Amino acid sequence: MNGEVPGRILLVGFMASGKSSVGMELASRLGWGFEDFDTVIEARAGKSVSQIFSEDGESEFRRLESDVAMELLSRSETVVASGGGWPTQPGSWNMVMDDTMSVWLKVSPVEAVRRAAQEGSTRPLLNGADVTDRATALLLSREPAYSRARHALDSEHLDPPQLAVEIMKLMKGTT
Ligand code: S3P
Repeated sequence: MNGEVPGRILLVGFMASGKSSVGMELASRLGWGFEDFDTVIEARAGKSVSQIFSEDGESEFRRLESDVAMELLSRSETVVASGGGWPTQPGSWNMVMDDTMSVWLKVSPVEAVRRAAQEGSTRPLLNGADVTDRATALLLSREPAYSRARHALDSEHLDPPQLAVEIMKLMKGTT
């Protein structure tokens, strides 16, 4: 990227790490577009992520997700919020062009589960028993994929406006 303004920002991280809320906040401050993988997938499938998982299976969800990723990651002047599992899928990072600034929003499993519970049961992978244990194991297994992002920020203690400011500083190369 050589210090130039990135073509787009890609936000990655665990479920409920704030990708969508930070992305919307950042896009509005930059005057850029905002796109969210899950929102586009749901609009195209005509059903919710939970319904896709239960009716068509996770592999069909991942196929839809990959198509949407390919398309959204070519947009310019756009903040893109990926789904929490996308960075772990084979070939996902090959879709990320060099002029993309990727940021991992870091959150603990306990906080992710707390936030997800507040938002309601929209996430099939965070439903059911022993959710904190499962989230802990899942996050651990995903960390190598998330760490491929160019930058990482603490999304546990910073709120969306603060994170938007931090990302804008990273864009200017002032941090
Ligand atoms: C998933 C995360 C969800 C959604 C789907 C699967 C995952 O997105 O794509 O439920 O595998 O972590 P969010 O990260 O926006 O919750």
